[in-house]
Amino acid sequence: MIEACLFDLDGVVVDTAKYHFIAWKALAEELGFEFTHADNERLKGVSRMSSLEILLEIGGLKFSEQEKLAMAEKKNALYVSYIEKMTPEETLPGVKEFLQELRSKGIRIALGSASKNSPMILDRIQLTEMFDAIVDGNSISEAKPNPEVFLKGAEKLGVSPENCVVFEDAIAGIEAAQNANMYSVGIGDPVLLGFADLVIPGFDGFSVEKLVKELKAPFLFPPGGKA
Ligand code: G6P
Ligand code: MG
Repeated sequence: MIEACLFDLDGVVVDTAKYHFIAWKALAEELGFEFTHADNERLKGVSRMSSLEILLEIGGLKFSEQEKLAMAEKKNALYVSYIEKMTPEETLPGVKEFLQELRSKGIRIALGSASKNSPMILDRIQLTEMFDAIVDGNSISEAKPNPEVFLKGAEKLGVSPENCVVFEDAIAGIEAAQNANMYSVGIGDPVLLGFADLVIPGFDGFSVEKLVKELKAPFLFPPGGKA
């Protein structure tokens, strides 16, 4: 019986990929090479340091660990300068309504994101209070497709993994959900995410009723959900 929903942040709740792109592109230009939108696709769901490794591989460059840490810090400072200015209007369409509906029906909600900037983003878009548990890049040691981030989220909620649904836009994120023995809903392209239990284009027009119907899984709606 489904009792909880776990959400990735970047690409599911907010579109931060455009800010990551600007910041990584600036670093690439400083290092003297081109960084394209197609390159940026490879960084979705990937941790900050692993993203830097991919970027340097594209540029064909090698640096010491210390230099790489300084570069990641510089990229993050530029990225933060953008997300600092985010507003609730940047929440992807339908997300807030869907979270509210889950809450009203007594379904528990957790965040499962690789981003160390998750607390700041949730604060800026004013959604922190919607989550019963938050697991982010500051509290995990293994990157998706390792299931750690989602297993910790389920544990914090006190819900068994098999009673959880994960919402994810990245291939590695769907794999992480499957490795955690959870149901998965892909947000985006069915060609890429077709191995998830269900794929939807986004939350606009989506509802708990549609989720129950299309996931074909039984849900447990306890009485007295929070409004
Ligand atoms: C998410 C994004 C990635 C990003 C990672 C780390 O998974 O999809 O593109 O690299 O978080 O984000 P951070 O904010 O900690 O640099
Ligand atoms: Mg994502």
